[in-house]
Amino acid sequence: MDWPRNDLILIASADRNWGIGFKNKLLKRIPEDLKRFSQLTRGNMIVVGRKTLESFKDARPLPDRINVVLTRDKNYQCPGAVVVHNLEELMSTIADFKGDVYVCGGESVYRLLLDYCSQALITRIDAAFEADTHLPDFDRESQWVREEAGGWQESKVGVAFRYDTYRRCEG
Ligand SMILES: NC(=O)c1ccc[n+]([C@@H]2O[C@H](COP(=O)([O-])OP(=O)(O)OC[C@H]3O[C@@H](n4cnc5c(N)ncnc54)[C@H](OP(=O)(O)O)[C@@H]3O)[C@@H](O)[C@H]2O)c1
Repeated sequence: MDWPRNDLILIASADRNWGIGFKNKLLKRIPEDLKRFSQLTRGNMIVVGRKTLESFKDARPLPDRINVVLTRDKNYQCPGAVVVHNLEELMSTIADFKGDVYVCGGESVYRLLLDYCSQALITRIDAAFEADTHLPDFDRESQWVREEAGGWQESKVGVAFRYDTYRRCEG
Protein backbone atom coordinates (compact mmCIF):
# COMPACT_ATOMS: atom_id res chain seq x y z
CA MET A 1 0.00 0.00 0.00
CA ASP A 2 1.25 3.52 -0.88
CA TRP A 3 2.12 5.75 2.03
CA PRO A 4 0.11 7.73 2.82
CA ARG A 5 -3.05 6.26 1.31
CA ASN A 6 -4.71 8.51 -1.23
CA ASP A 7 -7.73 6.38 -2.04
CA LEU A 8 -10.02 7.49 0.75
CA ILE A 9 -13.70 8.04 0.04
CA LEU A 10 -15.36 11.16 1.37
CA ILE A 11 -19.03 10.73 2.15
CA ALA A 12 -21.30 13.58 3.21
CA SER A 13 -24.64 15.25 2.79
CA ALA A 14 -24.72 18.93 1.93
CA ASP A 15 -27.42 21.49 1.36
CA ARG A 16 -27.57 24.02 -1.51
CA ASN A 17 -24.84 26.12 0.16
CA TRP A 18 -22.64 23.14 0.98
CA GLY A 19 -23.72 23.38 4.63
CA ILE A 20 -23.33 20.10 6.52
CA GLY A 21 -24.20 20.74 10.15
CA PHE A 22 -25.52 23.07 12.81
CA LYS A 23 -24.91 22.90 16.57
CA ASN A 24 -23.24 19.52 16.20
CA LYS A 25 -26.19 17.96 14.40
CA LEU A 26 -26.93 17.06 10.81
CA LEU A 27 -28.97 19.67 8.96
CA LYS A 28 -31.59 17.12 8.00
CA ARG A 29 -31.87 13.44 8.76
CA ILE A 30 -32.88 11.75 5.52
CA PRO A 31 -33.69 8.12 6.32
CA GLU A 32 -33.05 6.90 2.77
CA ASP A 33 -29.59 8.50 2.82
CA LEU A 34 -28.75 7.22 6.30
CA LYS A 35 -29.63 3.72 5.13
CA ARG A 36 -27.35 4.07 2.10
CA PHE A 37 -24.56 5.41 4.33
CA SER A 38 -24.95 2.41 6.59
CA GLN A 39 -24.91 -0.07 3.69
CA LEU A 40 -21.80 1.48 2.13
CA THR A 41 -19.75 1.79 5.28
CA ARG A 42 -20.70 -1.46 7.01
CA GLY A 43 -17.77 -3.87 7.11
CA ASN A 44 -15.38 -1.06 6.19
CA MET A 45 -13.62 1.70 8.12
CA ILE A 46 -14.96 5.14 8.96
CA VAL A 47 -12.90 8.13 10.09
CA VAL A 48 -14.61 10.83 12.14
CA GLY A 49 -13.72 13.80 14.28
CA ARG A 50 -14.40 13.65 18.00
CA LYS A 51 -17.40 15.99 17.70
CA THR A 52 -19.05 13.92 15.01
CA LEU A 53 -18.55 10.74 17.00
CA GLU A 54 -20.20 12.42 19.96
CA SER A 55 -23.15 13.36 17.74
CA PHE A 56 -23.90 9.68 17.12
CA LYS A 57 -26.63 7.94 19.11
CA ASP A 58 -25.50 7.72 22.77
CA ALA A 59 -22.13 9.14 21.61
CA ARG A 60 -21.14 5.58 20.69
CA PRO A 61 -19.25 4.27 17.64
CA LEU A 62 -21.36 2.87 14.81
CA PRO A 63 -21.70 -0.92 14.88
CA ASP A 64 -20.25 -3.41 12.38
CA ARG A 65 -17.47 -1.21 11.08
CA ILE A 66 -14.15 0.06 12.37
CA ASN A 67 -14.57 3.54 13.79
CA VAL A 68 -11.43 5.68 13.89
CA VAL A 69 -11.82 8.90 15.86
CA LEU A 70 -9.50 11.91 15.73
CA THR A 71 -8.87 13.97 18.86
CA ARG A 72 -5.93 15.95 20.20
CA ASP A 73 -6.85 14.86 23.72
CA LYS A 74 -4.38 12.16 24.80
CA ASN A 75 -6.70 11.07 27.60
CA TYR A 76 -9.75 10.63 25.41
CA GLN A 77 -11.35 7.22 25.74
CA CYS A 78 -13.91 5.79 23.39
CA PRO A 79 -14.67 2.12 23.91
CA GLY A 80 -15.23 0.37 20.59
CA ALA A 81 -13.33 2.96 18.55
CA VAL A 82 -9.69 3.37 17.58
CA VAL A 83 -8.52 6.75 18.91
CA VAL A 84 -5.80 8.63 16.97
CA HIS A 85 -4.27 12.00 17.73
CA ASN A 86 -2.89 13.37 14.46
CA LEU A 87 -2.64 12.75 10.73
CA GLU A 88 0.42 10.56 11.04
CA GLU A 89 -1.18 8.21 13.56
CA LEU A 90 -4.29 8.11 11.41
CA MET A 91 -2.33 7.20 8.28
CA SER A 92 -0.44 4.43 10.02
CA THR A 93 -3.73 3.06 11.39
CA ILE A 94 -5.38 2.92 7.98
CA ALA A 95 -2.30 1.91 5.96
CA ASP A 96 -2.81 -1.82 5.99
CA PHE A 97 -6.59 -1.92 6.12
CA LYS A 98 -7.74 -3.90 3.11
CA GLY A 99 -11.27 -2.50 2.85
CA ASP A 100 -12.59 0.94 1.98
CA VAL A 101 -11.86 3.89 4.24
CA TYR A 102 -14.70 6.41 4.41
CA VAL A 103 -14.06 9.95 5.58
CA CYS A 104 -17.24 10.80 7.46
CA GLY A 105 -16.68 14.31 8.81
CA GLY A 106 -17.23 16.73 10.31
CA GLU A 107 -15.92 19.81 8.60
CA SER A 108 -12.46 19.78 10.19
CA VAL A 109 -11.89 16.14 9.23
CA TYR A 110 -13.17 16.63 5.67
CA ARG A 111 -10.75 19.54 5.25
CA LEU A 112 -7.86 17.62 6.82
CA LEU A 113 -8.31 14.60 4.57
CA LEU A 114 -9.63 16.10 1.33
CA ASP A 115 -6.26 15.76 -0.41
CA TYR A 116 -6.10 12.06 0.43
CA CYS A 117 -9.53 11.29 -1.05
CA SER A 118 -9.99 9.98 -4.56
CA GLN A 119 -13.77 10.08 -4.55
CA ALA A 120 -16.50 12.07 -2.86
CA LEU A 121 -20.02 10.76 -2.48
CA ILE A 122 -22.18 13.78 -1.86
CA THR A 123 -25.85 13.66 -1.09
CA ARG A 124 -27.17 17.05 -2.20
CA ILE A 125 -30.22 18.30 -0.37
CA ASP A 126 -32.40 20.71 -2.32
CA ALA A 127 -32.87 23.16 0.57
CA ALA A 128 -30.90 25.85 2.39
CA PHE A 129 -30.56 25.53 6.15
CA GLU A 130 -28.86 27.58 8.83
CA ALA A 131 -25.44 25.94 9.11
CA ASP A 132 -22.20 26.44 11.04
CA THR A 133 -20.14 23.81 9.26
CA HIS A 134 -19.56 23.40 5.52
CA LEU A 135 -17.84 21.40 2.86
CA PRO A 136 -15.79 23.18 0.23
CA ASP A 137 -17.79 23.83 -2.96
CA PHE A 138 -16.74 20.82 -5.03
CA ASP A 139 -18.04 22.47 -8.21
CA ARG A 140 -15.39 25.18 -7.80
CA GLU A 141 -12.52 22.95 -6.69
CA SER A 142 -10.18 22.62 -9.68
CA GLN A 143 -9.02 19.16 -8.64
CA TRP A 144 -12.49 17.69 -8.50
CA VAL A 145 -14.91 16.83 -11.24
CA ARG A 146 -18.49 15.69 -10.95
CA GLU A 147 -18.62 12.29 -12.50
CA GLU A 148 -22.22 11.46 -11.84
CA ALA A 149 -25.29 13.45 -10.88
CA GLY A 150 -28.16 11.38 -9.59
CA GLY A 151 -31.79 12.17 -10.26
CA TRP A 152 -33.71 14.15 -7.67
CA GLN A 153 -35.71 11.97 -5.31
CA GLU A 154 -38.33 12.97 -2.80
CA SER A 155 -37.54 11.80 0.73
CA LYS A 156 -40.28 10.62 3.02
CA VAL A 157 -39.27 13.50 5.31
CA GLY A 158 -40.31 16.00 2.65
CA VAL A 159 -37.11 17.23 1.02
CA ALA A 160 -35.64 16.44 -2.37
CA PHE A 161 -32.16 14.97 -2.53
CA ARG A 162 -29.84 13.31 -5.02
CA TYR A 163 -26.64 11.31 -4.98
CA ASP A 164 -23.68 12.95 -6.73
CA THR A 165 -20.24 11.45 -7.22
CA TYR A 166 -17.08 13.53 -7.60
CA ARG A 167 -13.70 12.19 -8.57
CA ARG A 168 -10.28 13.75 -8.13
CA CYS A 169 -8.69 14.58 -11.47
CA GLU A 170 -5.12 13.58 -12.14
CA GLY A 171 -2.42 16.25 -12.29
N1 LIG B 1 -23.65 16.32 6.61
C1 LIG B 1 -22.76 15.38 6.87
O1 LIG B 1 -22.56 14.48 6.04
C2 LIG B 1 -22.00 15.41 8.16
C3 LIG B 1 -21.12 14.37 8.47
C4 LIG B 1 -20.42 14.43 9.67
C5 LIG B 1 -20.59 15.50 10.52
N2 LIG B 1 -21.44 16.49 10.18
C6 LIG B 1 -21.63 17.65 11.04
O2 LIG B 1 -20.39 18.35 11.15
C7 LIG B 1 -20.41 19.05 12.40
C8 LIG B 1 -19.14 18.76 13.17
O3 LIG B 1 -18.00 19.24 12.43
P1 LIG B 1 -16.75 19.91 13.20
O4 LIG B 1 -15.76 20.33 12.20
O5 LIG B 1 -17.29 20.92 14.15
O6 LIG B 1 -16.23 18.72 14.12
P2 LIG B 1 -15.51 17.31 13.80
O7 LIG B 1 -14.65 17.45 12.57
O8 LIG B 1 -16.51 16.22 13.83
O9 LIG B 1 -14.60 17.12 15.10
C9 LIG B 1 -13.65 18.11 15.42
C10 LIG B 1 -12.68 17.53 16.40
O10 LIG B 1 -11.89 16.52 15.78
C11 LIG B 1 -10.59 16.53 16.33
N3 LIG B 1 -9.62 16.86 15.29
C12 LIG B 1 -9.83 17.57 14.15
N4 LIG B 1 -8.68 17.67 13.44
C13 LIG B 1 -7.74 16.99 14.14
C14 LIG B 1 -6.36 16.73 13.94
N5 LIG B 1 -5.70 17.21 12.85
N6 LIG B 1 -5.70 16.02 14.87
C15 LIG B 1 -6.33 15.54 15.95
N7 LIG B 1 -7.65 15.76 16.21
C16 LIG B 1 -8.33 16.47 15.31
C17 LIG B 1 -10.60 17.60 17.42
O11 LIG B 1 -11.04 16.93 18.60
P3 LIG B 1 -10.68 17.45 20.10
O12 LIG B 1 -11.41 18.73 20.27
O13 LIG B 1 -11.17 16.35 20.99
O14 LIG B 1 -9.18 17.59 20.15
C18 LIG B 1 -11.68 18.54 16.92
O15 LIG B 1 -12.25 19.38 17.90
C19 LIG B 1 -21.66 18.57 13.15
O16 LIG B 1 -22.72 19.49 12.98
C20 LIG B 1 -22.00 17.27 12.44
O17 LIG B 1 -23.38 16.92 12.55
C21 LIG B 1 -22.15 16.47 9.01
